[in-house]
Amino acid sequence: MARSDEKAHIERLITEMTLEEKVGQLTMLSGELVQTGPAYAPVTSQAIRQGRVGSLLNLWGSERVREVQRHAVEGSRLKIPLFFCLDVLYGLRTFFPIPFGESCAFDPRLWERTARVAAQECAVEGIDLNFSPMIDVARDPRWGRTVEGPGEDPHVAARFADAKVRGFQTSDMAAEGTVAATAKHLAAYGAVQAGREYAPVDMSERQFHEVYLPPFRAAVQAGVAAIMPAFTDFNGTPMTANAAVLRDIVRRQWGFSGVMISDYSSVAELIAHGVARDKGEAAALALNAGVDIDMMGHDTYFEGLPRALERGLVRLDAIDAAVRRVLQLKAKLGLFEDPYRRCGTPSAIAAVGAQRERKELAWEAACRSLVLLKNDGDVLPLRDAPRAIAVIGPLADAKGEAAALVEASEGGEKALAIVDGLRAALPQANVAFTAGCGIERIDTAGKERARRLARESDIIVLCVGETLAMSGEAGSRGHPSLPAAQCELARIVLAQKKPVVVLLFSGRPLVLPNWLVEKADALMAAWFPGSEAGRAIGDVLSGRFNPVGRLSMSWPVDVGQIPIFFGMRPTGRPAAANDHYTSKYLDMPNEPRFAFGHGLSYSRFELSGLRVNQSKLRAGETIEVSIDVRNDGPLAGEETLFLFIRDQVSSVTRPLLELKAFEKISLAAGENGTVCFKLAAGDLAFLDHDLAPRLEAGTLEVHVGQSADADGFLSTQIELTT
Ligand code: GLC
Repeated sequence: MARSDEKAHIERLITEMTLEEKVGQLTMLSGELVQTGPAYAPVTSQAIRQGRVGSLLNLWGSERVREVQRHAVEGSRLKIPLFFCLDVLYGLRTFFPIPFGESCAFDPRLWERTARVAAQECAVEGIDLNFSPMIDVARDPRWGRTVEGPGEDPHVAARFADAKVRGFQTSDMAAEGTVAATAKHLAAYGAVQAGREYAPVDMSERQFHEVYLPPFRAAVQAGVAAIMPAFTDFNGTPMTANAAVLRDIVRRQWGFSGVMISDYSSVAELIAHGVARDKGEAAALALNAGVDIDMMGHDTYFEGLPRALERGLVRLDAIDAAVRRVLQLKAKLGLFEDPYRRCGTPSAIAAVGAQRERKELAWEAACRSLVLLKNDGDVLPLRDAPRAIAVIGPLADAKGEAAALVEASEGGEKALAIVDGLRAALPQANVAFTAGCGIERIDTAGKERARRLARESDIIVLCVGETLAMSGEAGSRGHPSLPAAQCELARIVLAQKKPVVVLLFSGRPLVLPNWLVEKADALMAAWFPGSEAGRAIGDVLSGRFNPVGRLSMSWPVDVGQIPIFFGMRPTGRPAAANDHYTSKYLDMPNEPRFAFGHGLSYSRFELSGLRVNQSKLRAGETIEVSIDVRNDGPLAGEETLFLFIRDQVSSVTRPLLELKAFEKISLAAGENGTVCFKLAAGDLAFLDHDLAPRLEAGTLEVHVGQSADADGFLSTQIELTT
């Protein structure tokens, strides 16, 4: 259907629709397959035929979707197709690392490629819209949804947003193998008070505009089809009803013309927030703020909008505008032309890459997500030699489902990712396993088995951490640490005085006991690496893949430091050990345990020769910042470098470090290379006292390093003139 015909078709539908059919298009209900929010009654075919619903979530599978879609396109009066949505954050059939783990790859090309495959898999299973990417900056590991997002930095989150939107949507959402993307959860959801899920968010407008909005701006610039406001209260106005943000910034300033979908029941929750007396007021607040679709709002739009219209709280043209955007989305998805286009058509199936290619991508993504935090005495990589390797711990399946493991350690050999991965990578080694304990409990028998196996082995791979259920939505932890049972297991294993490699499986940086970090010979953050976890971990531990992962979030020593991030503002009394009245704690360091960007390689990279092609930069110009890198071996490897700026004197205080770029370089052992960053004058703008972007003349420090740890910086200065 040509674009002009679609436009006319949409206007014709709006003219013919009853008010009930209009608010039906603004209603999204849940299917019956998965539950991602409070209990609900699944949608009925009758509701679909009556036009009471315009889209569904949590119902997928080509045949099931085809059957349900038929009720809409054949059984309803106007035959408007539904669209179907699901949360696919790290793959549908092929599982990639959790997004937080994938962000540690610092690889926008990889981020786009995995989104492409996820979209192709969705587009043959009846899924038209993906509730992804989640691009909430997170600086508080107590918050469980850290696992879903791209870490602490707005520049990284913006690059992540851009890559994911392009991967899911490409340039034509009606093309084979594409789905609509949803940028969520706008915004500052990661800053919930005390890291507690769904808690209020209260911050300065400056921090909101400098840190939490930029990723969503990037998603809009990449053409994202949908945006999902956060559940949370923001400075006294719940985001679902926040016209100043949703309407005035996102729609009017940024020009976002896509669809805004509320989060699960968050329109109805405006009553619980205390800004609406009833469904009529809640519906009016959300619609007037710019929310087009009420997801699982217990019919708040369906019942509340007609009441609001009668009470003069909303205008019919506002309802029509929302309906128009929903119908435009359906047209962009190609659903008017073919409502079954993502239900397993031969061309859609053909568009899905070969399974072997998808597995290889999952393997590469998993390898790249692993972050080697410590490697004393080069205990890694493990040599392939005839020796005994013990895999001990309740997380050896690398998927965070510990229950199955404890049974396995009673002699039953279940498919254990780490064991299988090591056996494949080190065929000469004798790899044995015991769980040693459960996630939260330990018993004498388990301890004895662990002690004995550790004593009989040459090296131990200790697999500890969280289950998947200990992070994610509603997964805040006041003390995001290792459970006591696992600490006891770790003490037993370390007491055997054998080399110990600790693999941490988690959805966030964990607060670790000092003795564990000090006594472990090697420490690797594995997060949850996905379908190819075993092979990837085996290949990285054995050196077949030289680790490249870097932390996308500062790793705290203690909860007391949270929120901790490299982009803090200066203090008038910078910490000084020998000066009491300076900014520090009496009982813990200021610095994180591991800095943003930290991650070791099996290669030694030497940096030198930082230089700029011009030391003065005027508005509209771009300079090149170059640095030489040498791989001193012993293995070929990939280095990731970060470029930060520091503006020492400005009309507004500027963060101690601002990340402006990151780049990679692959070098053979002994090879030299040069990394070149491009730095545009526009990148150096900051928000002035009125929160307006401003370029200010002055001297800027430029730091390039392997992390935000200043000890490793090479630095220079540039002069910005306006
Ligand atoms: C959940 C989440 C949101 C998700 C939605 C649908 O509550 O907050 O991220 O997309 O509901 O499952």
